[in-house]
Amino acid sequence: MTDTIITDESPTIVCVAHGEQPRVLTAWLGVGRKPTQCGRCVEEFKEAEKQRRREERVEELKDRLNLPARLCVADFDQFVATEKQRQAAARCKAWVEEVGGREGGTLILPGPPGTGKSTLLAACCNHYIEQELRQARMTTQRELIARLRATWRKGAEESEQQVLDDFIRPELVALDDVGVSLGGEAEQVQLLDVVDGRYKRFGSTIIATNLTLPELRDALGERTYDRLQQDATVVICDWPSFRTGGARG
Ligand SMILES: Nc1ncnc2c1ncn2[C@@H]1O[C@H](COP(=O)(O)OP(=O)(O)OP(=O)(O)O)[C@@H](O)[C@H]1O
Ligand SMILES: [Mg+2]
Ligand SMILES: [Zn+2]
Repeated sequence: MTDTIITDESPTIVCVAHGEQPRVLTAWLGVGRKPTQCGRCVEEFKEAEKQRRREERVEELKDRLNLPARLCVADFDQFVATEKQRQAAARCKAWVEEVGGREGGTLILPGPPGTGKSTLLAACCNHYIEQELRQARMTTQRELIARLRATWRKGAEESEQQVLDDFIRPELVALDDVGVSLGGEAEQVQLLDVVDGRYKRFGSTIIATNLTLPELRDALGERTYDRLQQDATVVICDWPSFRTGGARG
């Protein structure tokens, strides 16, 4: 913020930074700043404030997104080594922009280990938060089930309903590693509770799995799978693993 030179009572003012500008009533732009009568200074200040609040909101939403440290900076631009990866990332991005969080659709990413599915999930959530300023949440199936199961213990800090709400309320939820060792019927029911709760609220859900779609159907059970596959977009991630270096170049 800069000094303004008040020349006369004309409707304009000469600002050190902006030259001749429309005069506004003396504006106090907060502690530690000089008051100004320059319209552009005031506009710039308002814009900077808006940007600052937006960044604060993104930060807050990303805190609640709960990404593991390795995935915090994940974005779609990482998927450029091959045309297949580029297309997969572009389809995920388009899904987030067109469907994510608004219409209760599902994005399913099946593929073998190491192809970057978790990275894509995180990229979807990051992009969603940055674009929409709304809540996304990422978790693994194992973590979800463990948190739900922990509520059954005597003296548990949170109720089962609270945990369910945590994963039902966000506009977008990414469930990673779905289908692994989903042996018991109790686990299938817990997952159904989450998927059905989201389905009823038109929440959008992203699923990553090492299983094929028929295997996923068997693992989840008919009722869960049926809800997920309604209005589903499937992006198969079947390029070689990044972990062995095969997917680069
Ligand atoms: N687009 C990419 N370009 C380069 N490396 C990547 C890319 N995506 C992921 N990686 C790296 O590849 C490894 C595997 O990624 P990630 O964990 O996302 O795969 P995954 O498909 O989720 O694997 P899994 O099925 O075993 O969970 C990680 O070390 C990650 O940093
Ligand atoms: Mg993974
Ligand atoms: Zn100015």
